[in-house]
This record gives sequence, structure tokens and C-alpha cells, in this order.
Amino acid sequence: MSIIKDISLRHRGQRKIDWVYDSMGVLNELEHSLECAQPFQGKTIAMSIHMEAKTARLALLLKTLGATVYATGCNTLSTQDDVAAALASSGVEVFAIHGASSKEYAEHLRKVLDPHPDLFIDDGGDLFNTYCNLRKDEKWPIIGGCEETTTGITRLKQYEKHGPLPFPMINVNDADCKHLYDNVYGTGQSTIDAIMHTTNNTIASKTVVVAGYGFCGRGIAKRMRGMGARVIITEINPIKAIEAKLEGYEVMTMLEAAPLGDFFITATGCKDVITNDHFLLMKSGATLCNSGHFDVEINLKDLAALSSDIFPRRHNITGYRIAASGRVINILAEGKLVNLAAGNGHPAEIMDTSFAIQTLGLLYLLDHAGKLEPKLHSVPASIDEMVANL
Ligand code: NAI
Repeated sequence: MSIIKDISLRHRGQRKIDWVYDSMGVLNELEHSLECAQPFQGKTIAMSIHMEAKTARLALLLKTLGATVYATGCNTLSTQDDVAAALASSGVEVFAIHGASSKEYAEHLRKVLDPHPDLFIDDGGDLFNTYCNLRKDEKWPIIGGCEETTTGITRLKQYEKHGPLPFPMINVNDADCKHLYDNVYGTGQSTIDAIMHTTNNTIASKTVVVAGYGFCGRGIAKRMRGMGARVIITEINPIKAIEAKLEGYEVMTMLEAAPLGDFFITATGCKDVITNDHFLLMKSGATLCNSGHFDVEINLKDLAALSSDIFPRRHNITGYRIAASGRVINILAEGKLVNLAAGNGHPAEIMDTSFAIQTLGLLYLLDHAGKLEPKLHSVPASIDEMVANL
């Protein structure tokens, strides 16, 4: 039995799902060419990805290709209850509620593992981690899984330092058809879209500080510059810092950038990128948000400790009044990834290629069941080329 907010929201959710079909031509093509073969027949697939319309499309594709699908989100603020309702009405078991507590989220992760899935899709590593934390006698053999994002890959690599993985995992993030489009252009467009509609402020003429010049950071910087902002990059990797400099951006430390920025966007995958020292230097009205996977990049505990008052300003905007100066710092979407927690996520065309890699990654695992080493595997170049060609 699905656990969702309200089944009566399904019609609105269904319209959102119907809309993305038109822009997800690669998934439509895979459905067309694979449906007769029913490659996932008899298999159970668990998913933990942002519960919104593009993910629903992926879940429905896997179901059409024969799988029994169990789905949860990977961040409770990115869950769209109407989409969850529509998906639950379409024969997928869904465990996701917008704004669920950490305890409920942990229960939802457990629920999608209850049917002992053969395969899974993870986004950020929480599902993998939940499996690893099961008691030995609660575990079952898994054919393998696919990991969607940079932070999940970082966690898997960390796990591998202490020994083999419990089963093979496919590094979807590092496929060209994923990170070159999704992380750069998907995050670039959707982060700006979320900031613009959440704040209703001008971007042109503003100073925007982007922390991290990796794939996501460079996409955000490129689009912010295109919108007429002055863009400053902070970056701890000197090679990427030079790339940013050669691209024409100002590059400096966060301490130097703190007094200058109107908007601050973190996209590093690391914690404590913006802390006490920086908050104290910021202008009143500075607006901060995060596009990295976890809400650890802006230290909100530090900010709360500095504040005399924390108050709602607008939907998804919280004001923190710094006690010492009376300045107000605005935080979007509680520091959770802004493009999904306060927006619609990446455009459908972008998720089309990412999710095609996910689908073909699962098929690759199935075709090689029992033959792959229990470690992190790259997506074969032939899959990348096939998706790009499609
Ligand atoms: P990446 O590894 O390509 O880039 C991260 C960059 O941040 C690196 O260049 C690193 O040197 C830099 N960095 C690390 N700590 C820093 C610090 N304290 N200050 C300044 N720079 C720092 O990673 P990618 O692919 O750009 O992903 C970044 C994060 O965004 C990850 O958490 C990833 O999971 C997430 N992500 C979010 C998406 C979204 O929809 N919002 C989409 C794709 C990825």
C-alpha cells in the first residue's frame, strides 16, 4: 500500500506527467523498441530519486518494460505530492510525502526495500546506505544498482576504500550523456529558474557568488552571466579555479566574496562552504541557496546561532536577522537543493538522457547478472553513444 499525502491530487499530477512525455523522446523510443521484449519481467526495482514528473515517467517506463516498481524520493522537500498521487494511481507503489520528517523518510526508504528488489536506482546514496545498515539476516542478494549523482558516487567511493561493495553499482553520473548535460545545463537553468520565481528579483546587475566550479557550478555561472549578473567563483581546486579565471570570471575566496554578493549559490557537494565568518560579512538582503545534493553546504546552525530573529518572508524564503548588526540574510528552501525544493528540477529534455542512461544501466546489470564484480562500474561507452544518437 502506497504512503502518499492525498490521492485526490492525482489528476493534477497526471497532467504534469503527461506534459513531460512530449519532451522525453529518448525514453519514448526505448519504450517503443523494448516493450515487446519485456526485459524487466519478473523483476522488482526500487527507486529513490526526486519524486517529480520526470522521475514518474522513468518509473512508468520501467513498469511498462515488465518491472514491479517501488518508488520513494531522495529529499522530502523535492517530493511533489500530486505527482506521487498520480504515480501511485498508475500501479507503482509510492512512499513519499512532501516535507516528511527524517524519521518518515528513513521509513520510506525501508519500505521500498521491503519487497527485496532485484535492482535499484539511487540518487545521493541513501537507498544504498539503508541496505548496508540492514542486519545481515535481513539482507538478500541484489543484482545491482545505478547511482545518479556526484554526491552518491563520492559516498560509494568512500565505501570502496574499506572493501568491495555488496553488489555492483553503475556510475550513471559520470556517463557523458548524464553529467555533461544534466549537471551543467540542467542545474544551470533550473537553479536560476528557482531563484527567479522564488525571489521575484532581478538577476541582471546583481553580484552572484557561485561556490564550486565543477559541472554544476559552471552551468550556474554560465547562465547567471547570460542573465547579466557579475559572477564571482570560489573554488578550492586550483586547476578548476584557473579554468574559471580563463573563462573570464572573477575568482576569490568566500571570505573575499562574502561582502560583495547579492546572491550566493553553493554547488560543491561539500559541507560548511558558507559559515559564521562569511555570514557576518554579508550585506543586508543577501540571498543564499544551495544546489548541491545535501543541505550541508550553508551552515544554518551557525546562522541561527548568530540571529536574533528567524522569520518567514515569502514562500520558500526564510529571513535570519543577525543580532550584532540587524542585517537580514535570506535563505531559500531551507538550504536544500533549490532547483528541486523550490522549483521543478531540470528540464524534461535533460532528464530524458539521464534517465535513458539509468534504464540502459539497469538492463546492462540484468544482462550481466552474477558476472560483474561488486564495485563501481562505468557506463559502457556504447550506451553513452546510443543515448546520444537517439
Ligand atoms: P564536481 O565534483 O564536478 O564539482 C564540485 C566542485 O566544488 C569541485 O570543483 C570542488 O573542488 C569544489 N569544492 C569543493 N568544496 C568546495 C568549497 N568548500 N568551496 C569552493 N569549492 C569547493 O561536482 P558536481 O557534479 O558539480 O556536483 C556538485 C553537487 O551538486 C553534488 O552534491 C551533486 O550531487 C549535486 N548535483 C545537484 C544537482 C541538482 O539538481 N541540484 C544535479 C547534479 C548534481
